[in-house]
Amino acid sequence: SQRTLVLLKPDAVRRGLVGEIIGRIERKAGWTIGALELRTLQRATLEQHYAEHVGKPFYEPLVEFMSSGPSVAMVVEGERVIEGLRALAGPTDPIAAAPGSIRGDFGTIVRENLIHASDSAESAEREIKIFFPELG
Ligand code: GTP
Ligand code: MG
Repeated sequence: SQRTLVLLKPDAVRRGLVGEIIGRIERKAGWTIGALELRTLQRATLEQHYAEHVGKPFYEPLVEFMSSGPSVAMVVEGERVIEGLRALAGPTDPIAAAPGSIRGDFGTIVRENLIHASDSAESAEREIKIFFPELG
């Protein structure tokens, strides 16, 4: 079994899509929510989380957006949950994401693409330490 770090981004919270998105995650057989908190992400936290993107043209507006209001931070556990949540989310660009995926159903803007999910086991462990250090 695996665990992954999920963020429901400020656009998802502002638009009232938290229940819809968590519902889709909860309905997957055998997946469980291991931790969940509503919080406004601090710049320092986002600098760690998005370290790989520092210096890219979209980085500053991304950090501005991600700190613009509360997000829901979660740890989700279960069978192949890392790959599974990336599939549930869909590709980064919501217009390229197929209907049926979270980004494909609800998104249009690349930056405001509703959800983050760790992209590998290594990223998941690194990111869980950032958002839920007590789960180390
Ligand atoms: P995350 O799960 O949020 O990490 O998304 P991802 O893994 O699909 O994308 P990536 O890690 O490459 O980029 C992180 C976030 O930066 C994306 O989710 C987008 O919100 C934003 N982003 C990435 N690429 C672009 C881009 O080319 N333009 C803009 N405006 N935003 C981007
Ligand atoms: Mg990413």
